[in-house]
Amino acid sequence: MVEVLGVGKVVPLGNLGSGDAGVAQTLTILHEISFSVAAGESVAIVGASGSGKSTLLGLLAGLDTASHGRVLLAGADLSVLDEDARAALRGRFLGFVFQSFQLLPALTALENVMLPLELAGVLSAREARASAQQMLTRVGLGERLGHYPKHLSGGEQQRVALARAFAPRPQLLLADEPTGNLDAATGTAIIELMFQMNAEAGTTLILVTHDDRLAARCGRVLRMVGGRLM
Ligand SMILES: Nc1ncnc2c1ncn2[C@@H]1O[C@H](COP(=O)(O)OP(=O)(O)OP(=O)(O)O)[C@@H](O)[C@H]1O
Ligand SMILES: [Mg+2]
Repeated sequence: MVEVLGVGKVVPLGNLGSGDAGVAQTLTILHEISFSVAAGESVAIVGASGSGKSTLLGLLAGLDTASHGRVLLAGADLSVLDEDARAALRGRFLGFVFQSFQLLPALTALENVMLPLELAGVLSAREARASAQQMLTRVGLGERLGHYPKHLSGGEQQRVALARAFAPRPQLLLADEPTGNLDAATGTAIIELMFQMNAEAGTTLILVTHDDRLAARCGRVLRMVGGRLM
């Protein structure tokens, strides 16, 4: 499902200090990461703040490109696909939950969740609406369908982002701290929902988390320290 082969990420830092004038400085935020995840697996990525977890997740989704190495999604090498082809692959195949939610502010909760369903072009507008409404109800937001993101709490925005990722029933779900803004009870309900998808539809889960309960539910835990996989 996912294969990561010697992936590194190096970012420019511009010119630092007065010595070495003209020499661009770089910062390596991921070092030679390799692992693979089989279809149907659930994997937690854990590690301290700044260890590179979100950067790695972005590379897995093809939202960012590796400086070297390769990421294969369902056998497709992301490094040889252009932006449009990567977007098409994402749309067919994966759901992504950002640490910062990334809801569209001009759309209501319902419209945010309907959007990927409509873009996929499989469902009619009526079906997309019904499906989005059902998923928002499952995350406990059935009474908030018409709210805009700025009128939702942080935890409610997180649940809209989760509903948006779940609604198209992706084969692969990548989520960055999916329970980070939720109280214990709501977090437990969201964890149950993700593992229901894993059990019922065989959805592969790759979850970045600081939540020990969530990591414990996953079949495997990958630990990151300073941009390296331990
Ligand atoms: N484009 C960039 N340019 C420079 N530095 C970056 C860039 N993107 C990330 N970094 C740095 O890389 C490191 C890893 O960032 P990342 O967001 O992946 O961490 P994280 O493990 O997700 O942390 P957190 O648990 O706080 O979300 C951080 O030190 C960050 O400052
Ligand atoms: Mg992060």
